[in-house]
Amino acid sequence: MSYIIMEIKKISSVETYPVRHEVLRKGKPIETCQFKGDDDENTAHFGLFLEDKLVGIISIFKENNNLFSESNQFQIRGMAVLEEAQGKGFGTELVKETENHCINLKADLIWFNAREKAVPFYEKLNYKIIGDSFLIPDVGIHFVMYKKPSKK
Ligand SMILES: CC(C)(COP(=O)(O)OP(=O)(O)OC[C@H]1O[C@@H](n2cnc3c(N)ncnc32)[C@H](O)[C@@H]1OP(=O)(O)O)[C@@H](O)C(=O)NCCC(=O)NCCS
Repeated sequence: MSYIIMEIKKISSVETYPVRHEVLRKGKPIETCQFKGDDDENTAHFGLFLEDKLVGIISIFKENNNLFSESNQFQIRGMAVLEEAQGKGFGTELVKETENHCINLKADLIWFNAREKAVPFYEKLNYKIIGDSFLIPDVGIHFVMYKKPSKK
């Protein structure tokens, strides 16, 4: 029997670009893969590797949203798993790694703008929708989702 080695580790913002481009910005200029705040000291990026191939990414920014009153809020951005690796639990592993990172930083709240198609994925991880849907031009309909991180 053979095993595939899966590893999640911190990566740089630039290392996220190939997966951001393929999954989230397909056909768009590579510059669109750069997010404001990517290299801030409170921003972190995690990559999920199968053997040595990067197949999934997630980024976490220290960013408050006025919809919430909590003081230490973090925003998930750039969550993506390559199509051929989707549906195997890797996205879930990346969110859990990020939640642990936020717990270590004593986050009161995690929030993000979820693509409509990804809402059921986040609901399985106990994130809730707040408010109405809204349109992000060139990307599509989104919902704000949130959760208070807590140790199991
Ligand atoms: C959304 C995404 C990150 C999920 O990653 P993933 O590795 O495929 O997700 P997982 O395999 O961990 O899925 C966990 C559960 O959510 C479900 N799920 C995942 N994506 C789903 C979707 N789009 N619709 C419905 N259910 C979904 C899975 O079936 C699984 O359910 P199960 O536990 O009952 O088997 C990934 O599919 C992706 O990159 N999609 C395209 C980009 C995108 O939409 N990113 C999010 C931007 S907000």
